[in-house]
Amino acid sequence: MNQRTAHAPSYRYVAWAYDALASAYSLGAIDRAKQIHQDYIQHGSRVLYAGAGCGNEIAEACRRGAEVTCVEPCPAMASRLHARLSEAADGFTIVPSPVQTISAPPDYDLVVAHFFLNVFDAATVQGVLAHLCGFVKPGGHIVIADFTPKGTSTNPLTRLLRTAYYRPVNLAGWLLRICALHPIYDYEPWLATNGFRVTARKPCPSLPGLPPLYESITAEKQPHQKAGVDRA
Ligand SMILES: C[S@@+](CC[C@H](N)C(=O)[O-])C[C@H]1O[C@@H](n2cnc3c(N)ncnc32)[C@H](O)[C@@H]1O
Repeated sequence: MNQRTAHAPSYRYVAWAYDALASAYSLGAIDRAKQIHQDYIQHGSRVLYAGAGCGNEIAEACRRGAEVTCVEPCPAMASRLHARLSEAADGFTIVPSPVQTISAPPDYDLVVAHFFLNVFDAATVQGVLAHLCGFVKPGGHIVIADFTPKGTSTNPLTRLLRTAYYRPVNLAGWLLRICALHPIYDYEPWLATNGFRVTARKPCPSLPGLPPLYESITAEKQPHQKAGVDRA
Protein backbone atom coordinates (compact mmCIF):
# COMPACT_ATOMS: atom_id res chain seq x y z
CA MET A 1 0.00 0.00 0.00
CA ASN A 2 1.50 3.34 -0.96
CA GLN A 3 1.59 6.41 1.25
CA ARG A 4 -1.49 8.00 -0.32
CA THR A 5 -3.83 5.07 0.26
CA ALA A 6 -2.38 4.35 3.70
CA HIS A 7 -3.20 7.86 4.92
CA ALA A 8 -6.15 8.93 2.79
CA PRO A 9 -9.17 7.09 1.42
CA SER A 10 -9.79 7.71 -2.29
CA TYR A 11 -12.75 9.85 -3.33
CA ARG A 12 -12.14 9.20 -7.02
CA TYR A 13 -15.49 7.49 -7.71
CA VAL A 14 -17.58 10.14 -5.96
CA ALA A 15 -15.69 13.32 -6.89
CA TRP A 16 -17.93 14.11 -9.88
CA ALA A 17 -21.09 14.11 -7.73
CA TYR A 18 -19.78 14.92 -4.24
CA ASP A 19 -20.87 18.56 -3.95
CA ALA A 20 -24.29 17.99 -5.49
CA LEU A 21 -24.99 14.97 -3.26
CA ALA A 22 -23.93 16.86 -0.12
CA SER A 23 -26.15 19.82 -1.02
CA ALA A 24 -29.15 17.62 -1.79
CA TYR A 25 -28.77 15.35 1.25
CA SER A 26 -28.52 18.31 3.63
CA LEU A 27 -30.99 20.59 1.81
CA GLY A 28 -28.21 23.15 1.47
CA ALA A 29 -27.18 23.08 5.16
CA ILE A 30 -23.71 21.74 4.35
CA ASP A 31 -23.08 24.63 1.95
CA ARG A 32 -24.23 27.13 4.57
CA ALA A 33 -22.09 25.50 7.29
CA LYS A 34 -19.02 25.67 5.03
CA GLN A 35 -19.43 29.40 4.44
CA ILE A 36 -19.33 30.47 8.12
CA HIS A 37 -15.53 30.55 8.26
CA GLN A 38 -15.46 33.44 5.75
CA ASP A 39 -16.05 35.78 8.74
CA TYR A 40 -12.47 35.06 9.83
CA ILE A 41 -10.88 35.83 6.47
CA GLN A 42 -9.33 39.17 5.65
CA HIS A 43 -7.26 40.29 2.71
CA GLY A 44 -3.87 38.56 3.10
CA SER A 45 -5.03 35.97 5.66
CA ARG A 46 -3.06 32.73 5.43
CA VAL A 47 -5.58 29.91 5.29
CA LEU A 48 -5.00 26.15 5.11
CA TYR A 49 -7.85 23.86 3.98
CA ALA A 50 -7.37 20.24 5.07
CA GLY A 51 -9.19 17.71 2.87
CA ALA A 52 -10.20 20.60 0.64
CA GLY A 53 -12.43 18.62 -1.73
CA CYS A 54 -13.82 20.52 -4.74
CA GLY A 55 -13.69 23.82 -2.85
CA ASN A 56 -16.81 25.89 -3.47
CA GLU A 57 -16.16 27.93 -0.35
CA ILE A 58 -12.44 28.15 -1.12
CA ALA A 59 -13.08 30.09 -4.32
CA GLU A 60 -14.92 32.67 -2.20
CA ALA A 61 -11.96 32.86 0.21
CA CYS A 62 -9.63 33.50 -2.75
CA ARG A 63 -11.90 36.29 -3.96
CA ARG A 64 -11.64 37.84 -0.48
CA GLY A 65 -7.87 38.02 -0.90
CA ALA A 66 -6.84 35.06 1.27
CA GLU A 67 -3.54 33.33 0.61
CA VAL A 68 -4.82 29.80 0.37
CA THR A 69 -3.15 26.40 0.78
CA CYS A 70 -5.37 23.41 -0.06
CA VAL A 71 -4.35 19.93 1.02
CA GLU A 72 -6.14 17.40 -1.19
CA PRO A 73 -4.55 14.02 -1.98
CA CYS A 74 -7.32 12.64 -4.24
CA PRO A 75 -6.43 13.58 -7.85
CA ALA A 76 -10.09 13.61 -8.99
CA MET A 77 -11.05 16.04 -6.22
CA ALA A 78 -7.88 18.10 -6.69
CA SER A 79 -8.43 18.59 -10.42
CA ARG A 80 -11.99 19.86 -9.84
CA LEU A 81 -10.62 22.12 -7.13
CA HIS A 82 -7.92 23.44 -9.43
CA ALA A 83 -10.45 24.21 -12.17
CA ARG A 84 -12.69 26.04 -9.72
CA LEU A 85 -9.96 28.09 -8.05
CA SER A 86 -8.30 29.00 -11.35
CA GLU A 87 -11.45 30.94 -12.24
CA ALA A 88 -11.39 32.82 -8.92
CA ALA A 89 -7.76 33.82 -8.35
CA ASP A 90 -4.12 32.82 -8.68
CA GLY A 91 -3.17 33.13 -5.01
CA PHE A 92 -3.57 29.47 -4.13
CA THR A 93 -1.51 26.31 -3.72
CA ILE A 94 -2.79 22.73 -3.90
CA VAL A 95 -0.72 20.17 -2.01
CA PRO A 96 -1.53 16.67 -3.36
CA SER A 97 -0.61 14.72 -0.22
CA PRO A 98 -2.26 13.40 2.93
CA VAL A 99 -2.15 16.17 5.51
CA GLN A 100 -0.47 13.92 8.07
CA THR A 101 2.62 13.79 5.84
CA ILE A 102 2.99 17.58 5.69
CA SER A 103 5.00 19.61 8.13
CA ALA A 104 4.66 23.37 8.39
CA PRO A 105 5.43 25.94 11.09
CA PRO A 106 2.53 27.30 13.17
CA ASP A 107 1.97 30.42 11.08
CA TYR A 108 -1.51 30.04 9.58
CA ASP A 109 -4.17 32.56 10.58
CA LEU A 110 -6.85 29.99 9.91
CA VAL A 111 -7.05 26.23 9.42
CA VAL A 112 -10.31 24.91 7.96
CA ALA A 113 -11.36 21.27 8.29
CA HIS A 114 -14.81 20.94 6.78
CA PHE A 115 -16.30 17.45 6.77
CA PHE A 116 -12.74 16.15 6.82
CA LEU A 117 -12.03 14.74 10.28
CA ASN A 118 -15.05 12.46 10.04
CA VAL A 119 -13.15 10.48 7.39
CA PHE A 120 -10.95 8.97 10.11
CA ASP A 121 -11.58 6.21 12.63
CA ALA A 122 -11.71 6.85 16.35
CA ALA A 123 -8.12 5.70 16.86
CA THR A 124 -6.75 8.15 14.27
CA VAL A 125 -8.91 11.26 14.37
CA GLN A 126 -7.43 12.90 17.45
CA GLY A 127 -3.92 12.61 16.07
CA VAL A 128 -4.97 14.22 12.78
CA LEU A 129 -6.74 17.04 14.62
CA ALA A 130 -3.65 17.61 16.79
CA HIS A 131 -1.54 17.79 13.62
CA LEU A 132 -3.87 20.44 12.15
CA CYS A 133 -3.77 22.42 15.40
CA GLY A 134 0.00 22.59 15.03
CA PHE A 135 -0.35 24.68 11.82
CA VAL A 136 -2.24 27.52 13.57
CA LYS A 137 -0.39 30.52 14.94
CA PRO A 138 -1.16 31.74 18.49
CA GLY A 139 -4.29 33.87 18.30
CA GLY A 140 -5.27 32.16 15.01
CA HIS A 141 -8.34 30.01 14.50
CA ILE A 142 -9.47 26.60 13.41
CA VAL A 143 -12.96 26.20 11.95
CA ILE A 144 -14.67 22.83 11.55
CA ALA A 145 -18.04 22.34 9.85
CA ASP A 146 -19.48 18.88 10.48
CA PHE A 147 -22.45 16.89 11.79
CA THR A 148 -23.77 18.09 15.14
CA PRO A 149 -22.92 15.53 17.84
CA LYS A 150 -25.95 14.10 19.57
CA GLY A 151 -24.38 14.81 22.98
CA THR A 152 -24.88 18.57 22.50
CA SER A 153 -28.58 18.02 23.24
CA THR A 154 -30.26 16.45 26.25
CA ASN A 155 -33.53 15.98 24.35
CA PRO A 156 -33.89 12.24 23.58
CA LEU A 157 -35.81 12.90 20.36
CA THR A 158 -33.13 15.25 19.07
CA ARG A 159 -30.44 12.73 19.95
CA LEU A 160 -32.34 9.98 18.16
CA LEU A 161 -32.90 12.13 15.09
CA ARG A 162 -29.24 13.07 14.88
CA THR A 163 -28.16 9.43 15.07
CA ALA A 164 -30.85 8.24 12.63
CA TYR A 165 -29.86 10.93 10.12
CA TYR A 166 -26.13 10.36 10.37
CA ARG A 167 -25.77 6.58 10.59
CA PRO A 168 -27.04 5.68 7.08
CA VAL A 169 -24.69 8.13 5.38
CA ASN A 170 -21.81 6.97 7.56
CA LEU A 171 -22.59 3.37 6.60
CA ALA A 172 -22.81 4.29 2.90
CA GLY A 173 -19.45 6.09 3.11
CA TRP A 174 -17.90 3.10 4.83
CA LEU A 175 -19.22 0.74 2.15
CA LEU A 176 -17.72 3.05 -0.49
CA ARG A 177 -14.46 3.00 1.51
CA ILE A 178 -14.32 6.79 1.80
CA CYS A 179 -14.72 7.01 5.59
CA ALA A 180 -14.54 4.96 8.77
CA LEU A 181 -17.50 3.70 10.77
CA HIS A 182 -17.87 5.76 13.93
CA PRO A 183 -20.32 7.86 15.93
CA ILE A 184 -20.49 11.62 15.35
CA TYR A 185 -17.39 13.19 16.87
CA ASP A 186 -17.43 16.11 19.29
CA TYR A 187 -14.27 18.12 18.60
CA GLU A 188 -14.58 20.61 21.46
CA PRO A 189 -12.77 18.61 24.18
CA TRP A 190 -10.03 17.60 21.75
CA LEU A 191 -9.53 21.22 20.72
CA ALA A 192 -9.13 22.16 24.39
CA THR A 193 -6.50 19.45 24.77
CA ASN A 194 -4.53 21.10 21.98
CA GLY A 195 -4.55 24.56 23.58
CA PHE A 196 -7.60 25.97 21.81
CA ARG A 197 -10.65 27.73 23.26
CA VAL A 198 -13.95 27.20 21.45
CA THR A 199 -15.36 30.65 20.70
CA ALA A 200 -18.44 29.72 18.66
CA ARG A 201 -20.66 26.77 17.80
CA LYS A 202 -23.06 27.91 15.11
CA PRO A 203 -25.95 25.58 14.26
CA CYS A 204 -26.94 25.11 10.61
CA PRO A 205 -30.53 23.88 10.28
CA SER A 206 -31.73 21.90 7.27
CA LEU A 207 -35.46 22.45 7.74
CA PRO A 208 -37.40 24.88 9.94
CA GLY A 209 -38.73 23.12 13.04
CA LEU A 210 -36.09 20.38 12.98
CA PRO A 211 -33.06 20.49 15.32
CA PRO A 212 -29.91 21.54 13.45
CA LEU A 213 -28.05 18.55 12.08
CA TYR A 214 -24.90 20.47 11.16
CA GLU A 215 -22.76 23.02 12.91
CA SER A 216 -19.64 25.11 12.49
CA ILE A 217 -17.20 25.15 15.42
CA THR A 218 -14.62 27.91 15.75
CA ALA A 219 -11.74 27.73 18.21
CA GLU A 220 -8.93 30.16 18.92
CA LYS A 221 -5.38 29.07 19.68
CA GLN A 222 -4.43 30.41 23.06
CA PRO A 223 -1.14 32.24 23.36
CA HIS A 224 1.77 30.48 25.05
CA GLN A 225 0.20 27.06 24.61
CA LYS A 226 2.05 24.08 23.24
CA ALA A 227 1.61 23.48 19.52
CA GLY A 228 -0.44 20.43 18.51
CA VAL A 229 1.40 17.16 19.02
CA ASP A 230 1.59 14.97 15.94
CA ARG A 231 0.12 11.65 16.97
CA ALA A 232 -0.85 10.67 13.41
C1 LIG B 1 -15.78 14.26 3.03
S1 LIG B 1 -14.70 15.01 1.88
C2 LIG B 1 -14.86 16.74 2.31
C3 LIG B 1 -14.36 17.64 1.24
C4 LIG B 1 -14.52 19.14 1.53
N1 LIG B 1 -13.82 19.58 2.72
C5 LIG B 1 -15.97 19.49 1.62
O1 LIG B 1 -16.45 19.83 2.70
O2 LIG B 1 -16.65 19.43 0.58
C6 LIG B 1 -13.13 14.59 2.57
C7 LIG B 1 -11.97 15.05 1.72
O3 LIG B 1 -10.77 14.78 2.41
C8 LIG B 1 -9.81 14.26 1.52
N2 LIG B 1 -8.88 13.45 2.32
C9 LIG B 1 -9.04 12.18 2.75
N3 LIG B 1 -7.99 11.83 3.50
C10 LIG B 1 -7.15 12.88 3.54
C11 LIG B 1 -5.90 13.12 4.16
N4 LIG B 1 -5.32 12.19 4.88
N5 LIG B 1 -5.34 14.34 4.03
C12 LIG B 1 -5.95 15.30 3.31
N6 LIG B 1 -7.13 15.12 2.68
C13 LIG B 1 -7.73 13.93 2.80
C14 LIG B 1 -10.61 13.45 0.51
O4 LIG B 1 -9.90 13.25 -0.70
C15 LIG B 1 -11.84 14.34 0.36
O5 LIG B 1 -11.68 15.27 -0.65
